[in-house]
Amino acid sequence: MATLDALIAAALEARRRAHAPFSRFLVGAALEDTEGRIHTGCNIENATYGLTVCAERVALFKAVSDGIAGFRRVVVATDTPWLTPPCGACRQVLWEFCGDIEVILVNPAGKQETHRMKDLFPRAFDASTLG
Ligand code: THU
Repeated sequence: MATLDALIAAALEARRRAHAPFSRFLVGAALEDTEGRIHTGCNIENATYGLTVCAERVALFKAVSDGIAGFRRVVVATDTPWLTPPCGACRQVLWEFCGDIEVILVNPAGKQETHRMKDLFPRAFDASTLG
């Protein structure tokens, strides 16, 4: 199992690699899998705006494309006095691949909040809804 400190450090470090010239809102994510490995992502923006991908989905898709299945928790890092929860699209995708994991929001000043996916994303539409 990765330590929470290591996971937070990985999210803050990933944030520094964000490609966010349009919003200037830099986000980092670090996703821990059930073997304790850490998968990182940053937001990657595009001049067309709509093709932007959030840090959480970059981290998740990197891990899934590396053959990883089973996740334990994700840290989302921004440099704001308030903290940033995953957007709606990321909640949908995180729910599908990670289920009810812990979502830990942090900033570099040491502020921290912990949530569970089932609270952030109640009454989800998912594969079980398809019958
Ligand atoms: N963003 C993320 O990377 N994760 C979130 O949870 C919220 C938003 C990014 C998308 C965009 O590049 C910038 O933050 C502003 O919305």
